[in-house]
Amino acid sequence: MSGHGTPIPMTSRKCGPLRGEAHVPGDKSISHRSLILGALCVGQTRITGLLEGEDVLDTAAAMRAFGAEVTDHGGGEWSVDGVGVGGFAEPEQVIDCGNSGTGVRLIMGAMATSPITATFTGDASLNGRPMGRVTDPLALFGARAFGRVGGRLPMTIIGAADPVPVRYTVPVPSAQVKSAVLLAGLNAPGQTVVIEKEATRDHTERMLRGFGAELTVEQTAQGRVITLTGQPELVPQTIVVPRDTSSAAFPVCAAIITEGSDVLVPNIGLNPTRAGLFETLRDMGADLTYENLREEGGEPVADLRARFSPDLRGIDVPPERAASMIDEYPVLSVVAAFAQGKTGMHGVKELRVKESDRIDAMAKGLRAAGLTVEEGEDWWIVHGLGHGQVPGGATVESRLDHRIAMAFMVMGMATRKPISVDDGSPIATSFPIFEPLMAGLGARIERSNR
Ligand code: S3P
Repeated sequence: MSGHGTPIPMTSRKCGPLRGEAHVPGDKSISHRSLILGALCVGQTRITGLLEGEDVLDTAAAMRAFGAEVTDHGGGEWSVDGVGVGGFAEPEQVIDCGNSGTGVRLIMGAMATSPITATFTGDASLNGRPMGRVTDPLALFGARAFGRVGGRLPMTIIGAADPVPVRYTVPVPSAQVKSAVLLAGLNAPGQTVVIEKEATRDHTERMLRGFGAELTVEQTAQGRVITLTGQPELVPQTIVVPRDTSSAAFPVCAAIITEGSDVLVPNIGLNPTRAGLFETLRDMGADLTYENLREEGGEPVADLRARFSPDLRGIDVPPERAASMIDEYPVLSVVAAFAQGKTGMHGVKELRVKESDRIDAMAKGLRAAGLTVEEGEDWWIVHGLGHGQVPGGATVESRLDHRIAMAFMVMGMATRKPISVDDGSPIATSFPIFEPLMAGLGARIERSNR
């Protein structure tokens, strides 16, 4: 749980070439889902390569509170002995999801169609985020939610004793909302239908099928129509969690902006609902190649090779790509600072309700580091200064947001003067080995006392 401890100020200084291999940790989205779906099976699910970041550990603790047996066997090996669909016990304590929007929203969905009551809370960042987007569709199943004003945590959910299946069009592009509805649909009789106008990450659909649920996806004029047949018996699985595409973004972008760099980031999933950043970087003229392109577990996987790219150019990122790179805009805006010309990012209103308001957090920090940034409600433009021209010399607020902290640490590797963040502790939510991994490549990130 981040945000409860002492802040860890960090400084990143200009460094020499980044070189070597960056083995990033397991995927956060898939790690949460492995634990939750494992808890909804009868029998034992084995998980290898689980992300042992704070967000996922909070979900593991939550699954224990709902009655599953979750065991850490060491070295990223975990097992979950589940209680079955509809088998969740009522937790005795408040469920603290720390910093994790994915954790709390998916778990709310998973418990909302069982006759139990649970109270959820989180850190200051999570307790400021909107939950109405999840509790609105859960109410259609018959669940009731009592939270703070604006639909904020702490919040109590009273699960539906006699849930009915729903047909729901997700009003915002959000895999968390889609997944919460699907997980709730598991314990409703009949067919639950979720429609999304824009495709978002599809891990829940793929994994539900992998666990034996009957689920179909149809592309129609209204969007993706996902139909789940309720009350399946989920079958325990052996899951190998792929490495996190969103974590890979940090060493990749660091190599692209740091003179002389050549970094290999092995085994990264290129699921089209996740890999929009890499396409965007290539459109900007980055030297980023996919080596050893292959298929693993039905998904495209490659070793990413990122080299220093001195001639980056600003582009307009197509808005229809936003969902496939929604977590990568902070670090993309850092790369944009080192490009020639403007990089426009449009159709990205969702960035305002992430762990922080990411447009505001990045715009303020980039301006403090010498950049010009324009912004509107759902767009922003970074005016790039080109390689070697970005001043830096700023201390930036990370606002309990791991991706803001890491984006600015990447930036400091190539600015003229160092970049500091007031608190790097949130990095542990998703990328606990960020500092040693980047140091191993040649980065100069220090923990500093202000
Ligand atoms: C996630 C969905 C996205 C993403 C988050 C992980 C998921 O959130 O930003 O980091 O695992 O489903 P939204 O659903 O809010 O877009």
